[in-house]
Amino acid sequence: EPRVFSGVQPTGNLHLGNYLGAISRFVPLQDQMPTIYCVVDLHAITVWQEPEVLTRTIREVTAAYLAAGIDPKKSIIFNQSQVKEHAELAWIFNCIARMGWLKRMTQFKDKAGKNQENASVGLFAYPNLMAADILAYRATHVPVGEDQKQHLELTRDIAQKFNNDYAERIKELGLGIPNPEPNPELPDELYLPLTEPMIAGSATRIMSLRDGTKKMSKSDPSDLSRINLTDDADAIAKKIKKAKTDPEPLPGEVKGLEERPEADNLVGIYAALADMTKQDVLNEYGGQQFSAFKPALSELAVTKLAPMNEEMKRLTQDPGTIDAVLKDGAERAAAIAEPVLHDMRRILGFVEAR
Ligand code: TYM
Repeated sequence: EPRVFSGVQPTGNLHLGNYLGAISRFVPLQDQMPTIYCVVDLHAITVWQEPEVLTRTIREVTAAYLAAGIDPKKSIIFNQSQVKEHAELAWIFNCIARMGWLKRMTQFKDKAGKNQENASVGLFAYPNLMAADILAYRATHVPVGEDQKQHLELTRDIAQKFNNDYAERIKELGLGIPNPEPNPELPDELYLPLTEPMIAGSATRIMSLRDGTKKMSKSDPSDLSRINLTDDADAIAKKIKKAKTDPEPLPGEVKGLEERPEADNLVGIYAALADMTKQDVLNEYGGQQFSAFKPALSELAVTKLAPMNEEMKRLTQDPGTIDAVLKDGAERAAAIAEPVLHDMRRILGFVEAR
């Protein structure tokens, strides 16, 4: 059956890219299929996290989920460390995935930088934990931004190798589901689904406000490069005013945005916030200068983000409520993941001694 899983790292500075590329898209899915939204604290510690700060940011991401409209009655909201199956399945996947697959991951290369010898083993194995997050629930759909595409391809590769390596065993134990995409390279029964990435819309890759060729990111040292979900109206307006642009007016056609990364980015942000296409935006603003477009974008951003900002503030002042949501979510998540790991142990041939 279809099921959605996605996650966000509690590493501070949640920004407009996280909101438009991921969190805002989680909301409508709640009414279409079962949805599980995780605060991936185990992923966060692949790089150093100050413990008190981590505690705060886990609650902050949870608050952002709630403030964005994720309803804890419809969706499961929890933090990763509270459901032990994630770490257990990640270990199994450490033994399925190949070194060569992980060495190709561009995010590892970016994050480890020149000094790979000094990166944590966890940072290298990060995508295996991500595959475990998804497959511990046998999730079929994963809404994310463009930067996670390679990780989701790896998730499919892991599922495929597992299904192949254990094909006979899965059949013998009667645990398979018919392969929905029959393919001569795959067995006709699968235990782990082949996950669909959901990367769509005009905000799959929001760029830095200071440099249209760099992704908007939590770790950019310049705070002017991103709109944080905790920014108030004045900060949002100031950052949009200071956003880098070129001297030309906006084009009338989407094609005119090619080779104009900053213009393309601002039009994309407007489109995503207004739930329009980029062409719709250009139909309205084509031919106008940034001095006219920027105030309109600012007003739209403030209208959309300010209520969420207020609600996040209110929620983070009440950690009791947030922790209660996380507790209930962890219990519901564990109830799904535990039987999956039970099956996995049987498939692998472990003796269940207790
Ligand atoms: P993270 O925490 O870096 O980002 C959370 C989500 O925000 C998206 N995103 C963006 N989208 C558009 N433009 C941007 N500039 C931008 N920056 C970030 C990301 O694509 C992501 O969807 N590995 C994941 C977290 C994760 C996960 C998972 C996701 C762990 N396990 C299982 C899905 C399923 C990450 O680091 O996201």
